Amino acid sequence: MFAVHLVVSFFSKLQEDPTKKVDRFMYAMHLHDDQLSDISARFQAEMKKGLSAESNAAAAVKMLPTHVHSTPDGSEKGHFLALDLGGSKFKVLQVKVREGTGVRRGGVEMEEKTYPIPEELLTGSGKELFDHVSESLKDFLHEKKISVEKKHPLALTFSFPCEQSALNQGLLLNWSKNFRARGVQGKDVVQALREAVNRTGGMDVEVLAMVNDTVATMMTCGFDDRYCEVGLIVGSGTNACYMEELHHIDLVEGDEGRMCVNTEWGAFGDDGALNDYITEFDREVDAASNNPGKQILEKMVSGMYLGELVRLVVLKMAKLGLLFEGQVSDALRTKGKITTAHVAAMEEYKHGLKNTRNILVDLDLSPTPDDCIAVQRVSTIVSFRSSNLVAAGLAAILTQIRQNRHLRTLRITVGVDGTVYKTHPRYANRLHKVVQRLIPECHVRFVLSDGGSSKGAALVTAVAQRLASQRRQVDETLSPLRLSGEQLLLVKKRMRGALEAGLKSKGPSAVKMLPSYVYQTPDGTEHGKYLALGLGGTNFRALLVDLKKGLLQNSRLNHKIYPTPVEIMQGSGEELFDHIAQCVGDFLDYMGMKSARLPAGFTFSFPCEQAGIDTGTLVSWTKRFKATDCEGHDVVGMLREAIKRRNEFDLDIVSVVNDTVGTMMSCACEDPQCEIGLIAGTGTNVCYMEELKNIEKIEQEKGQMEREGEEKQDDGAEREKKEEHAGIPKMCINTEWGGLGDDGFLDDIITHYDSEVDQNSLNPGKQRFEKLISGMYLGEVVRQVLLNLTRGGLLFRGQVTEALKTPGIFHTKYLSQIESDRLALLQVRSVLQQLGLDSTCDDSIIVKEVCGAVSHRAAQLCGAGLAAVVDKIRENRGLDHLDITVGVDGSLYKLHPHFSGVLQQTVKMLAPQCTVSFLPSEGGSGTGAALTAAVARKKLEK
Ligand code: BG6
Ligand code: GLC
Ligand code: GLC
Repeated sequence: MFAVHLVVSFFSKLQEDPTKKVDRFMYAMHLHDDQLSDISARFQAEMKKGLSAESNAAAAVKMLPTHVHSTPDGSEKGHFLALDLGGSKFKVLQVKVREGTGVRRGGVEMEEKTYPIPEELLTGSGKELFDHVSESLKDFLHEKKISVEKKHPLALTFSFPCEQSALNQGLLLNWSKNFRARGVQGKDVVQALREAVNRTGGMDVEVLAMVNDTVATMMTCGFDDRYCEVGLIVGSGTNACYMEELHHIDLVEGDEGRMCVNTEWGAFGDDGALNDYITEFDREVDAASNNPGKQILEKMVSGMYLGELVRLVVLKMAKLGLLFEGQVSDALRTKGKITTAHVAAMEEYKHGLKNTRNILVDLDLSPTPDDCIAVQRVSTIVSFRSSNLVAAGLAAILTQIRQNRHLRTLRITVGVDGTVYKTHPRYANRLHKVVQRLIPECHVRFVLSDGGSSKGAALVTAVAQRLASQRRQVDETLSPLRLSGEQLLLVKKRMRGALEAGLKSKGPSAVKMLPSYVYQTPDGTEHGKYLALGLGGTNFRALLVDLKKGLLQNSRLNHKIYPTPVEIMQGSGEELFDHIAQCVGDFLDYMGMKSARLPAGFTFSFPCEQAGIDTGTLVSWTKRFKATDCEGHDVVGMLREAIKRRNEFDLDIVSVVNDTVGTMMSCACEDPQCEIGLIAGTGTNVCYMEELKNIEKIEQEKGQMEREGEEKQDDGAEREKKEEHAGIPKMCINTEWGGLGDDGFLDDIITHYDSEVDQNSLNPGKQRFEKLISGMYLGEVVRQVLLNLTRGGLLFRGQVTEALKTPGIFHTKYLSQIESDRLALLQVRSVLQQLGLDSTCDDSIIVKEVCGAVSHRAAQLCGAGLAAVVDKIRENRGLDHLDITVGVDGSLYKLHPHFSGVLQQTVKMLAPQCTVSFLPSEGGSGTGAALTAAVARKKLEK
């Protein structure tokens, strides 16, 4: 009796509290706080995986960079069209953003229209889907009487995972939710939209930015609350974004500042990370979905699936006889019959049970009151689990932000949108409470996005528009520095003309074409000890060369470098040569050779009018030199006198050569095809072997040399045409090509930045070509462009600082560093910092671009000049094809990361009939001077 009573009371108890059996049945969907903390920690680990370059490819949670760098600051303004695609409704909008001033925030006005998307378009072709989008847009313009004449900037909210490399581009990684139009995955969505707009025709829109709905929501809420740095959607789908530190985002260059990351957290669990929390109902929902195995978290959380989960649980319980006395209806068996709206209705405060009953009756069931209580409980457990999982995810994101900022407590706002969050009567409250419990150290405010995400998308677009207009202005500023192929060809042609003119004219010409009296490159038989002296850049060099059997590689080089102080470069000539003599004396002391009267070769890197190998009259100083009483005088003579004045040692100065000639000679030792010397350093210049008969200005030598040549030619009458030139008498010509344009011949490519640099130089109006190319001037051109951009407010916050006004701050070394591809932007900023330029991240991008434009032009111009030289040599020899080597030296060529590459490319393009090899000189032009001295000596000895 007692036992029977117990059993009866047990059953009546059960019937009294129908929620208990549900709780037992759905035990696996109950998540305790320690389980939530565990899930939260797993999610934080997944976020790290997604952010890191090594693990991103395999990561389930994609952590997509969005290229949104900041939340709204009130300066955004403009009128925008907006499309909101991917939520439960597709909308077209017009958004007007008014700029705010000071503490007054701006205002936003919106007009919108929802356009239904026919079911078949969701699964049809992508083209049809986007055509529908674009036709809806056109309809909207028409209905709202928005002008179709004008160009409209457009903001696109696209609520699917996209890989973006810029704001206005994004490859769809995969569809989610109920979309799966064909042929869009892996494609650029912005481009697809543009193409559809073109197909529709009759509108002029420019898609400036595409953002995920989470990002747009964060921005919408950020407009009114500057602490809003997280965006959350719990709607048809679920997802969150947040502001991450750039240096944590491996996939984006740059290490300072922040960028919004779209976590795509819906995919959490796709790699099995949630397997121990997944129930049979989740598996069933997944199996019956559009995308099995994908978006595992989303399927436990979001509106598209909540109703289904409830239906499957109720169905199973009914089948087991736990509900409706085992009655099951067809409707209950049908996918989609219980929706999220039903779930929300069942949980309503007052009418929840009544609603539940109506819903069940509509499903052709006959529920008892207890059945209704039980089903309401099922719904509660499903939606509770959803908000718990969202809370766990949010806790991970907020913890990440707090840790990033090394804070003990964090005050932050989360912008939220989505039908579940907005319409479910208890969802928001529960979510807030659990978040607070999981991370009590964070003070979290939740703000519901009002009017959807388009306001935020428009704000992003406003920033994009401002950047685009800045971009245009930067492009305009740089455009005169960008040369077309035709312009380069023209430069080549003019160089060719100038080379010819210089060879003829005895009087002054822009390109001087100075005979060097070097008749041949070394043949390898040169030997002996030589002193090589060099003056030209910023240093004076002394070098002892031992040409053991001419094998330079084996020669022992001993050298010393003496910086030339500016007051010496620009003092009196006597002081300059006394300084040189003093350096030579010091060097001989150092080598212990003061008493030996060594033969010496002198590399003098300035234009000299020569009448023989051992004399040279300085025509004019170039680069940084301006010592008085030197122009018009023999530099060898001046050096000899200084040595005499010093009266400590004696030298036999055998030769004086330009640095280009020295470079050619030293490289020719390694490669007999080397018949050109090129310098791209502080200055720029070229020398090459010219046929004597073409050098009209040195008549007397010619006669003698030509006779020698004829004899040689007779010997080799049978030789191939290619080799014939070996017998033809030649002389190395120092072109002094830096002077091209001194007669106004380059005025059409010279920009006002160049004119400014020229005017501020030591030799205004002179060396115009050199001033477009060489290291000493490139930094100055860069500085002029930066000044211009700063004055236009496009750089350095419009502040023209003292540093920026300082001539000469950009040495070649710095240009090379700034342009190095290996250097992250932060390092560019630190280089600028060293120069006293305080830059933002955006500034450093622009500075790098300016440097790039200037050095690219320099390399191209140098290439155009060289193309003229090689083609001339080819034509001299009557060849269809010429193989030739250029010996090169100079800091620009050797240190700059791109100069040599662009130079070579340009020569290839402009002189297609020549194969030009470049041989960087090893020992510098000094060894070349020694070789010249040796060659000259051999000739004397003969
Ligand atoms: C809307 C936003 O309010 O919410 C959309 O404007 C977003 O951009 C959507 O996708 C998400 O919620 P649901 O429930 O519509 O998917
Ligand atoms: C899906 C999409 C995601 C979107 C979310 C909310 O998870 O993949 O991009 O943000 O739904 O709409
Ligand atoms: C200047 C000089 C020239 C030299 C060049 C490279 O252009 O005038 O002689 O070769 O700089 O140093």
